[in-house]
This record gives sequence, C-alpha cells and structure tokens, in this order.
Amino acid sequence: MIEFQDVKKVYETKKQAFEALKGINLTVEKGDIFGVVGYSGAGKSTLIRLVNLLEQPSEGTVLVGGKDLTSLKPKELRAEKKKIGMIFQHFNLLNSKTVFDNVAMPLVLSGTPSNEIKQRVEELLEFVGLSNKAKNYPDQLSGGQKQRIGIARALATNPSILLCDEATSALDPQTTNAVLQLLKKINKEYNITILLITHEMSVIKEICNKVAVMEAGKVVEQGSVLDVFSKPQTDTAKNFVRTVIHDEVPESFLKNNEKDAPVIWKINFVGSTSGKPLLSTIAKKYEVHLNVLSANISEIQETPFGNLIIEVTGDKREIDETFQYIKDQGILVQEVVIND
Ligand SMILES: Nc1ncnc2c1ncn2[C@@H]1O[C@H](COP(=O)(O)OP(=O)(O)OP(=O)(O)O)[C@@H](O)[C@H]1O
Ligand SMILES: [Mg+2]
Repeated sequence: MIEFQDVKKVYETKKQAFEALKGINLTVEKGDIFGVVGYSGAGKSTLIRLVNLLEQPSEGTVLVGGKDLTSLKPKELRAEKKKIGMIFQHFNLLNSKTVFDNVAMPLVLSGTPSNEIKQRVEELLEFVGLSNKAKNYPDQLSGGQKQRIGIARALATNPSILLCDEATSALDPQTTNAVLQLLKKINKEYNITILLITHEMSVIKEICNKVAVMEAGKVVEQGSVLDVFSKPQTDTAKNFVRTVIHDEVPESFLKNNEKDAPVIWKINFVGSTSGKPLLSTIAKKYEVHLNVLSANISEIQETPFGNLIIEVTGDKREIDETFQYIKDQGILVQEVVIND
C-alpha cells in the first residue's frame, strides 16, 4: 500500500545540507495501523510528509498503491492525493470558517456538487459524533472535538489512506483515548490504512499492529507490535517499550536485598501461554522457591501480554533445570543481572 525504497531526504539550507532521512525501507500493508515512533528530530514528520508529497524525496522512491506520485501528471496526481487524508497535531482548521465549511473544504476544492457536499458533510459529522457543532467555529470547540473535525475533513474524499502526524500529542490522556478509538473504528469500518507517527509508545500499544522505531533518520527496528514489545532489540526500542511495559526489578527489593547475586528472571508471556499455571507447575516439579517481585498483564493487539519478575532460590542444578523447563514451554525468560 505504501512502500519506501531506499529513501533519503536532504534539507538544503543556506549554510549547509542536512540529511533528515538516511535510507528508509518500509512497507505498510493494506489494512495496517502502522505506527512510527521516535524521539524529536528522528525524521518522523519528514517521513510521513513524503507520502502525500508535502516533501519530495532526495533519493529513492515512495510508492503509494504501487504508484510513484512524483512521476504523475498534475491531473493524475490530484486524483491520487484525494485518496490520502491527513490529520495534524494542531488540527490545522480554518478558524474563520464554520465546522461544516471546514469539513466541506476538500469537497469544494475537488468540485463536488453542493447537494452532495451537504449530504457527505452531515454523514461525516455524524460519524465523528459532532452533528450538533456544524454551525460552530473551531475556536468554540475543545481539542478533542477539533481533532474529530480534522478527522471528518480528512475522510471527506473517501481516502484509502489516513496519515496522522502526532494527532493526539496535544490532547489529554482521556481525549487521546477517545480519538484513538475513533481511528481504530475508521480502520475497521472503512478499511482505511493508517500510517501514524508519535513519540508516545502508549499510542502504538493501543491501536497499531505494526511499528517502526526511528532514530536519527534511520529505521532501527520494525515488526509486529507484539514482537517489538516482547523482544525489543535496540536500546532505543527498549527505552520506548519501557515507557509502557513496567518490568523493572522493584526498587524496594534492590534496597532490602542482602544476597550477593540473587537469581532474578524476567518472564514474558504472549498469547495463550499467559494462561498456563506456570508457577504452580514449577513449584510441584522442581525443588526451587519462587518469590514474585512484580507481575502485570495487559493486552496488545487483543492478545494477552504479561510479564513477571521472580526471584528464584534453591540448588543451582534445580534452578538451571527450571530455567530450561520454562524455555521449553516456548516462554521468553531472561536472567536479570543486578548491578550495584
Ligand atoms: N524544512 C526543513 N529544513 C531544514 N531542516 C529540516 C526541515 N524540516 C525538518 N528539518 C530537520 O530534519 C530533522 C527531522 O525533522 P522531523 O520534523 O522530520 O523530525 P520529527 O521526528 O518529526 O521530530 P518531532 O518529534 O520534533 O516532530 C530535524 O533535525 C529537523 O531540524
Ligand atoms: Mg514531527
């Protein structure tokens, strides 16, 4: 659906050239909610703006629906651009126009007859739950309502792709959640592919099925959200995952620990393995003592995802066998080394 092939982007300023994207390869499949996460300046906005040609690539190709938009004639390009909607962090609504007129804007620009515009705008306002605000002005709306209007406007031309640049970063957590649920509904009900960028891993966790982690103009890690959350490889990905999955050894344990080298394991459960009564089986099978230091379970992609931090005491051989047993169950278990 969207394909980045060896894409580079260099910004030329008067003084110097700056390489904002250093060879990006990324594929967004139809139906994905694909999230790109990265710190400020990583190149996320640059990346997303290449999709609808708000920026041009310096090298490489971006294919949208199999087409390189830079090679199209103006008329074809207009038609293709209608298939790509976009929403922004600061909504980008026109304050001098009513909500109705803001949503109608893309339809007016594409020469849609006015009776059709009226019907479509009413339908969209109903979909985003703001039919009663048609005659209001953006200034009279809350942030969450403004973003809903932004979404209605982005959907006006029946796009097949929705681009979201930090669409919830200006909103409080509750409003963020409502907007994310709306995006999910758009993806499911309208079958719209969503490419979103964010610096918040919680956004990725809530709605995405795929994720790419960006750092200094490069994609350093990508995959299914479940894979990246359960097995992050790079330090950057690990840091992002840590912001939403709390699986650190508790401070209180570290403070009170008197052993030289306690054996501590971090166990990740994904999917059905989380239901297995692992600990009680171990207690029956092996001569080890288990002390649960922290445990939590949540859902990613409607799949149970849990982690457990346990301290294990007992005979070394029994401990080793237990470790192997857990591994054999297909459960991700890692030793945690404590540094003082
Ligand atoms: N028009 C421009 N001219 C020159 N440099 C630019 C331009 N736009 C962006 N950059 C630079 O490119 C780099 C990437 O910018 P970009 O806006 O893509 O990052 P980002 O990941 O979206 O960051 P943020 O999270 O702060 O929005 C930054 O170092 C930025 O200063
Ligand atoms: Mg940005």
